[in-house]
Amino acid sequence: MTADLFDDLPAPVSEERLADGAVLLRGFALAEATALVSAAEDVMRRAPLRHMVTPGGRAMAVAMTNCGPLGWVSDRRGYRYQGTDPVSGEPWPAMPGAMVALATRAADHAGYPGFVPDACLVNEYRAGTRLSLHQDRDELDFAAPIVSVSLGLPAVFLFGGQARSGPVSRYRLAHGDVVVWGGASRLAFHGVAPLAAGLHPLLGERRINLTFRRAR
Ligand code: SIN
Ligand code: FE2
Repeated sequence: MTADLFDDLPAPVSEERLADGAVLLRGFALAEATALVSAAEDVMRRAPLRHMVTPGGRAMAVAMTNCGPLGWVSDRRGYRYQGTDPVSGEPWPAMPGAMVALATRAADHAGYPGFVPDACLVNEYRAGTRLSLHQDRDELDFAAPIVSVSLGLPAVFLFGGQARSGPVSRYRLAHGDVVVWGGASRLAFHGVAPLAAGLHPLLGERRINLTFRRAR
């Protein structure tokens, strides 16, 4: 018997199909969650969280930063990806290897082999923070999926269809859960309900979400 026998053991996940092309992998990142939290803390130290301003001039409730070659930004000029942090003028922190590996593995598991993210948006939610329904559509090519990793306090994820006005389903996302959406669901409207107050052993009063994208 060799150690190789254990390399292919399935991760302790339960899968729930949200829609065509979209899947919730419960617990998929649990084994790496502590490492992902410390990697995210490191990113947030080097590129501090900030409340970006929408093109309409309102500060977003979710505090955000990025790592990787590209970062998603919003300001009065619009939404876009760029290689530098507008606060510091420096490149975004490199995407930690543990994050890249997890994102690739989750995408592969969900039926999207070969996903290599070039952008990771780090979102911080506190009690009451919500993210209104939106599509992720600032990427050049919608062939790649979105991979979203939940850390810290649980949240209610809202997942709808191609129209903002359509029906929306609600899913509880806990620490270590991963949602992958692509294919027919790539432009699905999604959002996060106001976060309930709580205390998480690793992240305290916060929820951190990592969304991995292929922006270019
Ligand atoms: C996002 O849509 O960018 C984040 C979703 C989440 O926080 O679960
Ligand atoms: Fe999104």
